[in-house]
Amino acid sequence: MGSIRHVWVFHIFSLLLLSSRNYSSQLDVECLKSLKQSMNDTGGSLFELWNFENTTDGFICNFNGVECWHDGENRVLNLHLSNMGLVGEFPLGLENCTNLTGLDLSNNKLTGSLPADISKKIPYVTNLDLSFNNFTGEIPLNLSNCSFLNVVSLQHNSFTGSIPWELAALGRLTCIDVADNRLSGPIPSFNFSMVASSFANNSGLCGGPLEACTKSTKQIKTGVIIGFAIAGAIITFLIVAWIVYFILRNVNMKKKGKDLKDNEWVKNLKGVQGAKVSMFDGSISKMKLSGLIAATNAFSKENIVGTGRAGTVYKATLPDGTHFAVKRLQNTHDSETQFLAEMSTLGCVRHLNLVPLLGFCMAKKERLLVYKHMPNGSLYDKLHPTDSGGKLLDWPSRLKISIGAAKGLAWLHHSCNPRILHRNISSKCILLEYDYEPKISDFGLARLMNPIDSHLSTFVNGEFGDLGYVAPEYARTLVATPKGDVYSFGVVLLELVTGEKPTDVSIAPESFRGSLVDWITYLSNSSLIQDAIDKALIGKGYDTELLQVLKVACSCVLSVPKERPTMFEVYQLLRAIELTIILALMMIQ
Ligand SMILES: *[C@@H]1O[C@H](CO)[C@@H](O)[C@H](O)[C@H]1NC(C)=O
Ligand SMILES: *[C@@H]1O[C@H](CO)[C@@H](O)[C@H](O)[C@H]1NC(C)=O
Ligand SMILES: *[C@@H]1O[C@H](CO)[C@@H](O)[C@H](O)[C@H]1NC(C)=O
Ligand SMILES: *[C@@H]1O[C@H](CO)[C@@H](O)[C@H](O)[C@H]1NC(C)=O
Ligand SMILES: *[C@@H]1O[C@H](CO)[C@@H](O)[C@H](O)[C@H]1NC(C)=O
Ligand SMILES: *[C@@H]1O[C@H](CO)[C@@H](O)[C@H](O)[C@H]1NC(C)=O
Ligand SMILES: *[C@@H]1O[C@H](CO)[C@@H](O)[C@H](O)[C@H]1NC(C)=O
Ligand SMILES: *[C@@H]1O[C@H](CO)[C@@H](O)[C@H](O)[C@H]1NC(C)=O
Ligand SMILES: *[C@@H]1O[C@H](CO)[C@@H](O)[C@H](O)[C@H]1NC(C)=O
Repeated sequence: MGSIRHVWVFHIFSLLLLSSRNYSSQLDVECLKSLKQSMNDTGGSLFELWNFENTTDGFICNFNGVECWHDGENRVLNLHLSNMGLVGEFPLGLENCTNLTGLDLSNNKLTGSLPADISKKIPYVTNLDLSFNNFTGEIPLNLSNCSFLNVVSLQHNSFTGSIPWELAALGRLTCIDVADNRLSGPIPSFNFSMVASSFANNSGLCGGPLEACTKSTKQIKTGVIIGFAIAGAIITFLIVAWIVYFILRNVNMKKKGKDLKDNEWVKNLKGVQGAKVSMFDGSISKMKLSGLIAATNAFSKENIVGTGRAGTVYKATLPDGTHFAVKRLQNTHDSETQFLAEMSTLGCVRHLNLVPLLGFCMAKKERLLVYKHMPNGSLYDKLHPTDSGGKLLDWPSRLKISIGAAKGLAWLHHSCNPRILHRNISSKCILLEYDYEPKISDFGLARLMNPIDSHLSTFVNGEFGDLGYVAPEYARTLVATPKGDVYSFGVVLLELVTGEKPTDVSIAPESFRGSLVDWITYLSNSSLIQDAIDKALIGKGYDTELLQVLKVACSCVLSVPKERPTMFEVYQLLRAIELTIILALMMIQ
């Protein structure tokens, strides 16, 4: 009896498993079907080509605007439905695209309000773009339960009410744009830096980057009161402005223009100025914290040379004229022993293509790292100079930089003991020596890779790297892997070949709102990949190499981590490209 029941239970179990597997891929098909039914594409021919007759695995992945996790699997990763002339309301059928991470419905004619349980419809979305539609109603409170959100674009709609305060608790949010709506009330205190243009053109938003909120404007019933309120506000404003003017003038007179707030933390170190700066070798003679403070002019704003996720970097100058860099770590949660252990490991990590850590200093809660100074700044600044007169990097320098950086990263991944994942590779952390030899900085700051559990390691606080560089799987798995670094490095290679920024592509048409990787994917799907190459580099005898490096870059940014090469392979591929050039040159001579 017992064994028969056992067999039955087993059968039911496997039936459930089977059906749930089929059902799951069917769900995404249902999702797109319902999307097609619930909206009309005026003028466009989007839905005409969404043909549900063919039911081979992964058939929906060929639909225009649909991006799948894998080509052979009906599982939607992103929907890019910008500028399709769509008419209708927010598609509730999205609920069945259970693995969706990106939703772009911008530049359509969508109306109506967002669902009150929006977090049930798009629970895993990291990038939500509903801009340039005519959505109405309030921004639902439930949006704050979409806990993976990174970027929220709601600008140019007709949203009313206030911005839910709870959105500020979204730990991964890095950007929100609500410009040009009918919103009012105070702007929540988001903890990323907000710009006024993201909140401009609304009926009554205040606080944050806009003018401060005045108390009396809240419950106004008659015009008289409005008049009084406005007068009151103006008077308050004038008084506040007057007071602020005097305070500022005082500060200016006392501090001669030095910014008080930016280095206020230095004051808290008064009692511990004698703290020792531990140096790994004798390159800088004995120093105390007071020496660092003097060398950076009390960490003044003028000496800031870079700000990254890990912290702010200051240029320091010793009385004898030598330079070095001091990084002030932010948000360190580690204990002193943990920090000391990490420092003693990192201090021993030496490689030609890594910025050497010279020493460190621990004082109260502050963690200061002393690095060698890199005279040519970051690759990012060299590739995307802010003044248009900046000298462009030629291709041989770019190739040299790509090979050196690949070598450094491959060494961290494969040869260093313990192996180190970088987790935040970008062109901002590749610094350049006098001779443009690239050096990777910031390695090891995201916690050392565990040598036992050698290829997996979770993100600290689920923190993502810089926008545009983060591998797509990170958003879901929150696990850092070597292949994630390879992806980010691929984006750097793309920057080198195209000269474009990772998040905004200047040569793409206005309506294109994706990242550099999206743009390259689009071009390569349309067999236009050579259009991606930096125009300033073409026709100078390097065209073949450019294409070869572009190919390597494309393999690094494949969406399936397993299909990407390892860092060592990337280094070898790039080196081979350089060797063929050298060989060709030798043949000519
Ligand atoms: C991805 O989709 C499948 C099928 O719908 C579902 O079973 C699974 O839970 C989803 N994964 C996540 C993380 O939601
Ligand atoms: C549908 O499938 C058939 C073969 O099963 C194929 O020949 C045809 O091209 C497919 N049509 C579309 C629109 O994918
Ligand atoms: C789409 O068009 C059809 C026919 O013109 C119309 O019946 C339907 O209401 C439209 N749907 C939407 C959401 O506008
Ligand atoms: C999701 O799919 C299920 C199963 O096909 C269906 O019953 C349900 O109505 C769908 N949900 C929405 C919101 O369309
Ligand atoms: C808001 O989101 C939570 C979690 O996703 C969900 O359980 C709840 O039902 C939603 N609230 C409303 C009003 O739909
Ligand atoms: C948006 O919708 C509102 C309310 O339905 C309407 O008053 C307004 O004219 C619409 N705006 C545009 C630009 O269509
Ligand atoms: C949804 O968000 C609200 C506000 O942020 C929070 O109070 C609530 O606990 C969340 N619900 C769930 C199920 O996470
Ligand atoms: C922003 O605030 C959230 C929630 O309070 C927190 O999890 C996150 O770490 C903060 N981010 C930064 C950069 O301070
Ligand atoms: C605000 O509105 C003005 C006038 O319509 C327009 O020129 C400007 O671009 C808008 N700003 C934003 C951020 O939408």
